[in-house]
Amino acid sequence: MKSLPLFNFNQAASVYDEWFSTPMGRYYDLVEKRAIKQALKNVSGKKLLEIGCGTGHWSKYFSALGFSVLGVDISFKMLRKTFHKRIPWAEFVQSNAHYLPLHDNEFDVAVFITSIEFINEPHDAIKEVVRCIKKPGGNLLIGTLNAKSRLNRNRFTKNKPPYHKASLLSIESLSDLLEPYGKPTIYTCAFSLNPSCPIPIIDPVFDSLAKKLGLRCGDIIIAEVQL
Ligand SMILES: C[S@@+](CC[C@H](N)C(=O)[O-])C[C@H]1O[C@@H](n2cnc3c(N)ncnc32)[C@H](O)[C@@H]1O
Repeated sequence: MKSLPLFNFNQAASVYDEWFSTPMGRYYDLVEKRAIKQALKNVSGKKLLEIGCGTGHWSKYFSALGFSVLGVDISFKMLRKTFHKRIPWAEFVQSNAHYLPLHDNEFDVAVFITSIEFINEPHDAIKEVVRCIKKPGGNLLIGTLNAKSRLNRNRFTKNKPPYHKASLLSIESLSDLLEPYGKPTIYTCAFSLNPSCPIPIIDPVFDSLAKKLGLRCGDIIIAEVQL
């Protein structure tokens, strides 16, 4: 059923943000922010739609970068956490990504961060989100856990919530999803040998090298499409 997410994040909301203070959480946050910030340089305009914004961790970042943010999430308990953060230039709406209460062509960019893999019908959700992005010239950005990374496969086989419920994508399957909207720039990042003990000077070098070499096994996939 389209309306149900693959994992009910209401049950994780009270502890969700704790992840970002763990060594691994800090590492993945840093790597992903570096990649997403770079991708946002290609965006003209400041209206950003964030799908599956959760507790607003990323909304706060986008706001700090100068975007006006509309965060959408299906989980009321996750969204409730955003209210305590008092994020400037950000509003939040509880809604299902499959049926957005928004006009066509409203946003300069739409972003999914670690949310597309928890959405029941990603094909339909992307179509609905693209409807709300300006055309031509708007951007769609996706950061998602890579099905082909060893770390993510282990999480899945060890039945670790919420990952065990995620429908992880690979570069190939994400490219197929985005194909109707244009040719995506797509690559993987986060190649740290030991994410719980990253080496901040070397890791960015790995990431840019991996992007150049087209390595497909990083823990995170970043995809950008210009519509
Ligand atoms: C892993 S959390 C990521 C939250 C945030 N993007 C972050 O990176 O901190 C995935 C989020 O996607 C939301 N989600 C899942 N299915 C959804 C849907 N159909 N519509 C809107 N949000 C959805 C969940 O409620 C959850 O908050």
